[in-house]
Parts: sequence; structure tokens; C-alpha cells
Amino acid sequence: MAVKKKIIYRGAEAEILLSKYMNYKAVEKRRIEKGYRIKELDHKLRSLRTKEEAKLMIEARKSGVAVPIIYDVDLENYTITMEYLEGKRLKDILNNVSEKERKKLCKMIGENIARLHSNNIIHGDITTSNMILFDDKIHFIDFGLGEINSEIEAKGTDLHVLMEAFEATHFKYPNCFDYVLQGYKSILKEEAEPIIRKIEEIVKRGRYR
Ligand SMILES: Nc1ncnc2c1ncn2[C@@H]1O[C@H](COP(=O)(O)OP(=O)(O)O)[C@@H](O)[C@H]1O
Ligand SMILES: [Mg+2]
Repeated sequence: MAVKKKIIYRGAEAEILLSKYMNYKAVEKRRIEKGYRIKELDHKLRSLRTKEEAKLMIEARKSGVAVPIIYDVDLENYTITMEYLEGKRLKDILNNVSEKERKKLCKMIGENIARLHSNNIIHGDITTSNMILFDDKIHFIDFGLGEINSEIEAKGTDLHVLMEAFEATHFKYPNCFDYVLQGYKSILKEEAEPIIRKIEEIVKRGRYR
């Protein structure tokens, strides 16, 4: 039986459809065609990125970070079918909770990023739009720009993206990012030091460009 699917989001790279898998609410993330690319290359790139994203989601789960359960990966249709997280995006709640709650959530974000980084998983687009609070856990989504990379530079850059996202979206709460780093350090210990220094270096580089 075909299920009716409703588009809940349409981005530049992918669309998200509300779907069903067996009896579970699911979403399908489908990479869309880029008309400017040669057909054959477009097919290759879309299926490669679909595969890479699914792999990173699995690696993230193994590192102890909550991610949607993957139900199916269909490379022919560039689609990952996954658990529908019926929660709220961090972007939409972080500005509307108490300071105590905000601190708790930010520390949790930092702990999760540390778990990813300790396994050399770079998310690639850490913003509060790509985190969903569901079942009391912060779930990370959207590993489409991610990679496996053990370099300090890659980890620092990953955190720097979040720093800038905070400055743009949660600018009323300038200590948010400090709480993230507290959580990050609590897991990575001294390994965090060179990565945090790298963030400072990246900020300076940007200033003098
Ligand atoms: N598993 C999911 N459960 C609930 N909502 C989701 C899920 N995956 C994606 N979304 C929603 O769709 C949006 C876009 O998905 P995302 O993977 O971030 O795509 P993009 O790469 O285009 O940013 C998310 O910000 C979120 O609101
Ligand atoms: Mg996204």
C-alpha cells in the first residue's frame, strides 16, 4: 500500500517528507536533483552523499550520540528513511527557557560534540537547527556535510561553526557557547585544550582577513 507523503521541509540539497515505516512515523530525507550537473555525475554524487550521511549517523550512534534510527537507505532514490523525532529544534527552544535549563542544554550539546570528536566524527554543520530535543535527549541530525577527520583544525572548525550560529541566533545569551565548551571539556579533558585554542586562532584569522 502506498503511503501519502507530505513534504515538511525543502532545502537546497534535500527535501524532508513525512512518511511511515511499518507502523512507525518516519521521515524520508531525499537528495534532490541539481539540474546544472551532468545527469551521470548528479546520480553519483547524490547516492554517494546519501551513503556517507547514513554511515556517519551510524558512527555517531556508536559514539553514544542520539541520532534518528535509520530504517532504510535507498541509494537508487537517494533517500534515507529514518525515525521521525517528534520533538523541538534547539533553535526554537533555547531562547525561551530558564537560564538554568539553557546552561544544562548547552552543556549537553558540548558533551555530545565531544563524543563525536573523540571518535573523529566531524558533523560539518553544527547549528541549533540541526539538533532536536526528543525523549530528554538532544538528537543530532543532518550529517550531510560531515566527514571522518582526526585533525585539530577540523574539530576546531566544527565548533567554530556553532559559535557563529550562537552569535547569530542566540546573541542575547552570550555565555551559551562557554557552557558548550564546559560540557566539551568535561568529556575530552586535556584533549580539548588544543582544539579550543584552534577556535581562538580561527576567530583571529577571520578578524584580520
Ligand atoms: N528525523 C527527523 N525528525 C524530525 N524532523 C526532522 C528529521 N530530519 C529532519 N527533520 C527536519 O527537517 C529539517 C531539514 O533536515 P536536514 O537534515 O537538516 O536537511 P538540510 O540538509 O536541508 O538542512 C530539519 O531542520 C528538521 O526540522
Ligand atoms: Mg539542516
